[in-house]
Amino acid sequence: MKRNRLTFILPLLLLAASLTGCGKDQAENVEPKPEGGDITAGNVSYSNYVGKLLESRCNSCHNVGGSGSSKWTFSGIESVKSNSDRIKNAVLVTMTMPMGSSLSAKEKELLDAWFKRNMP
Ligand code: HEC
Repeated sequence: MKRNRLTFILPLLLLAASLTGCGKDQAENVEPKPEGGDITAGNVSYSNYVGKLLESRCNSCHNVGGSGSSKWTFSGIESVKSNSDRIKNAVLVTMTMPMGSSLSAKEKELLDAWFKRNMP
């Protein structure tokens, strides 16, 4: 009888202890970093930022067969590097791209920094 009760209560106590401990950890980590929060002009790369930016802001028209694909087809970093002068011009100088919208100042700043760092 006594033994049975202990084997029942002990795990409950351990569970309660681990739950309170866990609650504390979660409170400390409650705020996740915003996406792109650590990306700066000094560390921006194709894989940490630029690829995703072009994918979300250009790919809809510049994918294979898209409305802009005859001028530039987006298919990964090499397709950007080999057309970098035209892309730079269209996005950062004449700002005709992305067609129908525009990049934020921060997005342009990071893209510009990426070109200046020779497209890592
Ligand atoms: C809504 C569709 C659309 C979006 C979004 C878009 N483009 Fe375009 N883009 C076009 C079309 C259509 C053309 C061809 C325009 C023309 O012939 O005058 C074009 C042309 C271009 C050209 C060729 C310019 C030249 O030298 O003649 C480049 C480079 C380009 N886009 C880059 C981009 C980049 C980079 C983005 C994203 C930041 C982007 N585009 C987003 C539709 C789009």
